[in-house]
Amino acid sequence: MKKMTEEFLKAAFSGESQAHMKYLIFAEKAEEEGLKNIARLFRAIAYAEYVHARNHLKELGMVGVTKDNLQAAIEGRHMKLKRCIQFITTPQRCKVKREQREALSTH
Ligand SMILES: [Fe+2]
Repeated sequence: MKKMTEEFLKAAFSGESQAHMKYLIFAEKAEEEGLKNIARLFRAIAYAEYVHARNHLKELGMVGVTKDNLQAAIEGRHMKLKRCIQFITTPQRCKVKREQREALSTH
């Protein structure tokens, strides 16, 4: 697979995944408001986004047998934990992140 194609697929996977979660959350909110049919509609759209995301992930070759998927999940969690530890133990990074958050919150 060409690098550009891979990058596009990764970006598409990210977008589809976010859309999936967004529509599930919208469905939850509609449910809370007693709008059951709207909630069903959002869940149907969320499922479509899930299928799109799944297809992109498969095309990227990132869905293996369960043993491989478990390893990938462990590595993903390990990397996230490592980033959290780095974030917590590096004061300068904390300052930069805080400044970035403050800048974003003013827009
Ligand atoms: Fe989609």
